[in-house]
Amino acid sequence: MLKRTHSCGELTAEHLGQEVVLNGWVNAYRDFGGVVFIDLRDRYGLTQVVFEPETGQSLQEAAQSLRNEWVIGVRGTVRRRLPGKENSKLKTGEIELQASSLEVFNATQTPPFELGGEANEELRLKYRFLDLRRPEMHRIVEIRHRLAQTMRRAMTDMGFWEVETPMLGRSTPEGARDFLVPSRVHPGHFYALPQSPQLYKQLLMVAGMDKYFQIARCFRDEDLRANRQPEFSQLDIEMSFVQFEDVLESMESLIRELALEFTGQALASPLPRLDYHDSMERFGTDRPDLRFGMEINDLGDLAAQTEFKVFRETVEHGRRVRGICAPGAAESHSRKDLDALTAFAGEYGAKGLVWLKVEAEQFTGPTAKFLPPEVQARMRERFDAKPGDLLLIVADTKEVTSASLAAIRHRLGRTLGLYDPGSFHYSWVVRFPLFSWDSEDGRFVAEHHPFTMPLPEDLHLLESEPLKVRAQAYDLVINGEEAAGGTIRCHDPVIQSTIFRHLGLSPEEAEEKFGFLLAALRYGAPPHGGIAFGFDRMVMLYAGLDNIRDVIAFPKTARGTDLMTGAPGSVEDQQLRELHIRTR
Ligand code: AMO
Ligand code: AMP
Repeated sequence: MLKRTHSCGELTAEHLGQEVVLNGWVNAYRDFGGVVFIDLRDRYGLTQVVFEPETGQSLQEAAQSLRNEWVIGVRGTVRRRLPGKENSKLKTGEIELQASSLEVFNATQTPPFELGGEANEELRLKYRFLDLRRPEMHRIVEIRHRLAQTMRRAMTDMGFWEVETPMLGRSTPEGARDFLVPSRVHPGHFYALPQSPQLYKQLLMVAGMDKYFQIARCFRDEDLRANRQPEFSQLDIEMSFVQFEDVLESMESLIRELALEFTGQALASPLPRLDYHDSMERFGTDRPDLRFGMEINDLGDLAAQTEFKVFRETVEHGRRVRGICAPGAAESHSRKDLDALTAFAGEYGAKGLVWLKVEAEQFTGPTAKFLPPEVQARMRERFDAKPGDLLLIVADTKEVTSASLAAIRHRLGRTLGLYDPGSFHYSWVVRFPLFSWDSEDGRFVAEHHPFTMPLPEDLHLLESEPLKVRAQAYDLVINGEEAAGGTIRCHDPVIQSTIFRHLGLSPEEAEEKFGFLLAALRYGAPPHGGIAFGFDRMVMLYAGLDNIRDVIAFPKTARGTDLMTGAPGSVEDQQLRELHIRTR
C-alpha cells in the first residue's frame, strides 16, 4: 500500500523538491488534453496532483480512469505551481504534487448526489456516510468534539467527577414517553431508557460524590421538531451542599469559558436574570430572544375605553389585550403581508390581529377609527411609538396572547433585522411555577420535573395553593433557545412525598415507582441541585445552524427513523418469542 507520509492539508513551499505520498479521495478531476489534474481530499485539506504524459503511458491511463470520490494513494514530488495558478485560499495553494505512481484503493461507484451541491435531506440521510464527507460536516463534527472536550476540561478543573449511569434502568419522568426495552429473563418486564440521568445523579449526591458530571445520552419518545431528537446528549451536572445562587455562579463560570472559546465573547457577570413571570409578561415566552427589544405591553386599561367590540368584550371577560410595536415596520408591510401575519398569529390561536400604522398625527388601519384620540396618545406613549412604526395587538386569553405575540415578535425580530444574527445573548429565566395544570387530563403536572424544591417563601402554599408555588428552577436561554435547565432538588422526603401526592401518585404508587429515591432521601441526602445543558443545541448555536439533525453524526428524521440503516426495523419471530412478546 502506498502509505501516506503527509496529509492533504499540510504541504507548502517548505516541502519543495521532496518526494511524498498522499492518500485521500478524488475531490475534482480535470483532463487538459492528456495532463490530468486532480484535487485530492482528506480531513485536513486539498492538494493538487498533476499527472503528466511524460511519466509514462500506464500511469497516464490509470490517471485518466480516475473519477470523483475514488480513494487513492499517490507518490510524487512537491513542486511550485505555475505562476498565476496559485490558490491563496488553500494552505497548499502554492504547490502541487507531480505524480510518479498511483494506487487505486477503491474504484468508487458514482455517488447518488454531488457532494459539493445541494442534495435533498432525505438522500443525504440515506447516504449519511457520503454526506459526512463534506467539509461543512467535518467542521460541525469538530465543533462537537471541541465542545465536549472543553466541557470535560472545565468541569474537571472545577472539581467535578465524570460518572456513568445506566442506560437500562427504571423510567425517570421528564415529561416524555419512555423507550422501553423488554427483558428476556423477566417475562413481561421492561427496562426504560433514561429520559435523563436525573435520579441516578441525585443518588450520587446521597452517596457523597459531591460534584458529578456526565455527557449523557438521553432518550425521549416525543414529537420531534427542528431542535429535538429522540436520542440526544446532555452535559448533565449535579452538586451537593449548594443553594440556587451557588449553582448559577458555578455554571456561569462554565458558560463564560464556553463563550470565550467558541465565539470569543467575554461575558459580563453575572448574566442577566429574568423572572419567569416577567418573561411571560414582557416576551410571552419563557425563552425570549433578548438580542432585541420589541417587548409586549398590556393594553387592557386602554382597550376598555375604546368602541371596539372585540377589545371591550375581551376585557369584560377578564381576558387580555396585549401588543407589540414593530419599529419602522409600517411602510414595509403591505396589506398582503399583514394578512399573512394575521394568519401566522392564527396558528397560535389568535382569532385576529389588530394592526395600526403609526403616523405623525394619528393611527391608520381598519380598527383605528374605534380608538379615540386620547387612547391613541396613551398607546403611543406606552410603546414609545414613532411615526412609521407598526402596532400589532391581540385580544384573547393570557396563553393565546402570549403564544401569538411571542411568535410574531420572534418572526419580526428576524425579518426586520433587529439584531446581528452572529451575536449571542445569554440569560437566565428563573423561578418557574412548580406545577402547571393539565386541563386535558385534569391534573397537576410538574413544570420541570417532580424532584424540584419549592422557593422557601412559597413553601407554605404547597398544601393549599400548589399552582401558586414557585420553584427553585432556572433555565439558561441563548438567543431564544432553551440551552439548559435545572433546579434545586427536594432533599426532604416529606416535601418530596407531598409533591408526588399533588401529581396524583398514591403513597403506594410513589413507593412502588420511586421507593429507592425516597429511601435514599431518608438515609442522609445533602441539599443538592444541578442542571443539564442540551449538548446538541449548544453545538447548533456555536455552529450557527438551526437544525439539530445537522449536528448529530447519525440523526433520526422528524419521524424518528434512520434512513440509512432502516431503524426501527422488524425482527425475527424467534427474537420476539425469546422476549415473550407478541405483536398485534
Ligand atoms: P430538561 O428536560 O430541561 O432537564 O433537559 C435539559 C436540556 O436538554 C435539552 N433537550 C433536548 N435536546 C434535544 N432533543 C430533545 N428532545 C431535548 N429535550 C431536552 C434542552 C434542555 O434545556 N434532568 C433535567 C435537568 C436537571 O434538572 O438537572 C432535564 O433533563 O436544551
Ligand atoms: P372582525 O370584527 O372579526 O371583522 O375583526 C375586525 C378586525 O379585528 C380584524 O382586523 C381582525 O383581525 C381583528 N380581530 C378580531 N378578533 C381579534 C382578536 N381577538 N384580537 C385581535 N384582533 C382581532
